[in-house]
Amino acid sequence: MNIIKVENNEALSEKAADMIEDTLHAKENPVLGLATGSTPERLYEILQKRCHDGKVSFQHATTFNLDEYIGLAGDNPNSYRQFMNEKLFNGIDIQKENTHIPNGVAEDPDKEAIDYEKKLADAGKIDLQILGIGLNGHIGFNEPGSDVKSRTQVVDLAESTIEANARFFNSMDEVPTQAITMGIGTIMEASKIILLVQGEKKAEILSKVLHGDVTSDVPASFLQMHKDVTIITDIDA
Ligand code: F6R
Repeated sequence: MNIIKVENNEALSEKAADMIEDTLHAKENPVLGLATGSTPERLYEILQKRCHDGKVSFQHATTFNLDEYIGLAGDNPNSYRQFMNEKLFNGIDIQKENTHIPNGVAEDPDKEAIDYEKKLADAGKIDLQILGIGLNGHIGFNEPGSDVKSRTQVVDLAESTIEANARFFNSMDEVPTQAITMGIGTIMEASKIILLVQGEKKAEILSKVLHGDVTSDVPASFLQMHKDVTIITDIDA
């Protein structure tokens, strides 16, 4: 694994934006895998600015997000679809029909997961996958215990994930307990992966990912087996 240590979140986000820009320039029809959460927020702001300044274009890009909460429609303010529209898609020149996020209110969520996997296969390989990491080592919503070969599927969120997400909702009852997530096997098929790790609270889990065993107890540790992973971390982490 390639590790890039930077001063702060700004430098981390700039570095990740550079790598995305390289992919956008190198490929005719680039396919990007995207994450939500606090970590990539600044990265998405930078990409909007670069697009606005004419440095990058997403016109021929296709994106696939890692996950969506079950039970939240795309127009729910807490859905990952809303997050992506607000934080990135509305501010860049991407064609909305080329942005893919699982539908959290699909009538048959299991079928939605299978269909999502098919859409991914039709688009070809993900050229560059952006990942954040949960405090428990999850990537996407592949919680501890996830299988290395797992594909896009419906999963139960870990108690700690539900608690961490609670800050965005009015009450505990509203916090989703399930999600549709790309599987670890799906993520591992990306040609290139960038894992963004930011903040002191991620230090302990990052140490396990870097120096610990490859184990489903720490899903991100499976990244040790991928041939092209770059971890961009700030000093705090
Ligand atoms: C989000 C996702 C999650 C987050 C992780 C870190 O699409 O799949 O794995 O990347 O929970 O979240 P933050 O960045 O909020 O610490």
